[in-house]
Amino acid sequence: MKALICPSLGPVENLEVRDVEPPVAGPGEAVVEIAYAALNFFDTLIIEGKYQLKPEPPFSPAGEFSGRVAVLGPGVEGLAVGERVMGSTGYGAARERIAIAANRLARVPDGLPLDKAAGLSIAYGTTIHALRQRAEMKPGETLVVLGASGGVGLAAVEIGKIMGARVIACASSDDKLAFARRYGAAETINYAAEDLRARLKALTDGKGADVVYDPVGGALTESALRSLAWKGRLLVIGFASGEISRPPLNLTLLRGCDIRGVYWGEFVNREPEVHRDNMSQLLRWAESGALSVHIHAKFALEEYQKALEAIAGRQTLGKTLFKIGADT
Ligand SMILES: NC(=O)c1ccc[n+]([C@@H]2O[C@H](COP(=O)([O-])OP(=O)(O)OC[C@H]3O[C@@H](n4cnc5c(N)ncnc54)[C@H](OP(=O)(O)O)[C@@H]3O)[C@@H](O)[C@H]2O)c1
Repeated sequence: MKALICPSLGPVENLEVRDVEPPVAGPGEAVVEIAYAALNFFDTLIIEGKYQLKPEPPFSPAGEFSGRVAVLGPGVEGLAVGERVMGSTGYGAARERIAIAANRLARVPDGLPLDKAAGLSIAYGTTIHALRQRAEMKPGETLVVLGASGGVGLAAVEIGKIMGARVIACASSDDKLAFARRYGAAETINYAAEDLRARLKALTDGKGADVVYDPVGGALTESALRSLAWKGRLLVIGFASGEISRPPLNLTLLRGCDIRGVYWGEFVNREPEVHRDNMSQLLRWAESGALSVHIHAKFALEEYQKALEAIAGRQTLGKTLFKIGADT
């Protein structure tokens, strides 16, 4: 079968599409024929060994997927060959088939297309966990989303709106902001052209934001922290800018506010039941159309360079997919 392989850690040019042996379903596992695999920003890092998760080469990138069950290993119950499923693995999905523990798969509801299902687990799973369990966000609160047109950013705009927040989307271009408005942002700030702190002060009548969702890092983090309301929460999601900010801690004292870390992969391992609840909610919202899971583009496996460079080059809106097998 065909697989995109990272043979050694390094730049995207190192990757290659190869023929590899198809996987066999071990006890408790299912083999899934992959229709779509979704990419995330961390795929641009994992192939270079610059991400917290460091698989040994050779491996395939792409941490989430959708498709149909092809084979069931011994001892698997409650799943049938041919069923539409989705799942997340961290890495390893950019290939025609994957073997995975059957209890890591979720059934895709009839009303949800397989392409949207492929990109639902990680960005939306991270965001519902961040806003529900970490921020404990309440209806009527102000939610500021940095990098609001990216994968997790768009998820925060959409889930924030559903949870009843007033969403202020922040991004680096007016096109990206128009996109975020289309999916639920009430207000927007172009942080490449405007002063984030001054605009947030004006938009909140001097009160500040209740929750900041920060997948970007760098200088924006400190500006956002300085813009929090009393008892506000800054959610540390990631560092797409490449820079981890080190803000002065007296800022938390002055606002009685919190900096709260979010690590979805670890949450899934440590709190599987809460995670399952979150996923059921996401699937209901996605099936009803309340979540867009907007797809920026679908690439063939052979177009891996274009796909990963678009993400690293800050050009994508929402999710980027590999189209791998049949979507029927
Ligand atoms: N904590 C967790 O559990 C968790 C889970 C999933 C993802 N993450 C992290 O969240 C971050 C975003 O992931 P994603 O998949 O949503 O990424 P994405 O779709 O590529 O979006 C990232 C956004 O960051 C902004 N950005 C600023 N500087 C950038 C740069 N130098 N290069 C690329 N983008 C830049 C861009 O928006 P503007 O151009 O508008 O600034 C872009 O839209 C990553 O750091 C990822 O590792 C964390």
